[in-house]
Amino acid sequence: MKSFPPSRVTDRIRSDLTRRFIVLRLVQGQCHKCSHTLRGGLFPARKFHPEDGDSTAKITLFTGEIDGYLDLMAKAEVSERLAEVLRDFRVRVVVSTGAGVSAESGVPTFRSAGGLWRTFKAETLATPEAFAENPQLVWEWYEFRRAKIKEVEPNPGHHELVLWERHFPNFTLITQNIDGLHRRAGSSKPIELHGNIMVSRCHKCERRAGEAGLGSDGEIPRCQCGGLLRPDVVWFGEPLPQRELQLAWEASEGAEVFISVGTSGIVQPAASLASVAKEAGAFLIEINPDETEISYKFDETLRQPSGIALPALGRRLGIARN
Ligand code: OAD
Repeated sequence: MKSFPPSRVTDRIRSDLTRRFIVLRLVQGQCHKCSHTLRGGLFPARKFHPEDGDSTAKITLFTGEIDGYLDLMAKAEVSERLAEVLRDFRVRVVVSTGAGVSAESGVPTFRSAGGLWRTFKAETLATPEAFAENPQLVWEWYEFRRAKIKEVEPNPGHHELVLWERHFPNFTLITQNIDGLHRRAGSSKPIELHGNIMVSRCHKCERRAGEAGLGSDGEIPRCQCGGLLRPDVVWFGEPLPQRELQLAWEASEGAEVFISVGTSGIVQPAASLASVAKEAGAFLIEINPDETEISYKFDETLRQPSGIALPALGRRLGIARN
């Protein structure tokens, strides 16, 4: 296994630990002091040494690479045109996020390299038919994803959008993500178009049942009415929650600036929100390291990861940091 010269790695980590976030792209690392094991992903610096917050603890990385986030952010360029459309804090801003905004937290996307729908078959795991046929398998898959999501942390992109909510009085956050990371970062009312993986609901009477999941013996959870519980997420072939869709639609119609972040723009009706905003005269911005099928609709594009682009944009606008 490839390993870094320990002194070089330790120096980089020490300097990065004075900052808020560091990114680790590594297989595994371990703190010398408390033996806390680190896996790949993006970590708030305080997580590094959870035992006593000692930020100078030596950490051995067995393989991987470390990037200081702020260095990358400092290099990110934001055009004058882009800064100008967001300059007035009273502008009506809608930000619509997809799986890409959580990628830097370590949550897999659906269609990029390593994406969930490249490994798993949606029709056997994320449809009402799949649940009717094999609820056990569907539950196991969602429990697996719940567990993964609990292990990760919101990243600088999520945190930046919390600052934006405070800065822009007319701000709406719409997300296709079911991971709840916007809420965990502190966004007060993201419109969750595809539901929330941490919530369960009865497939029969629709009653919500918190985070109920598989029992320790693998038993499928049931509602008080006797019906099987299911994850409160939108599956293929199902309509979106009506209230959320209406709120998202109205906000997009009223947007002056619409920012699409980290979505391939393929899944409807979320993908139409950008068009709704454009038809109503909004300025459209796309943040995505890659071109998408809807890129041509946008007035301006930032081809960077959202954890870099959003804070860079915020800094350029002078949005207050903590
Ligand atoms: P996709 O996986 O289709 O697209 C993710 C997008 O994020 C891609 O365009 C990537 O280029 C981009 N991306 C990757 N890393 C990024 C980063 N660090 N910063 C910014 N962008 C990045 O995911 P969605 O468009 O969200 O629905 O998928 C939409 C829906 O399809 C999901 O909500 C889910 C799925 O089936 C349901 O489960 C109902």
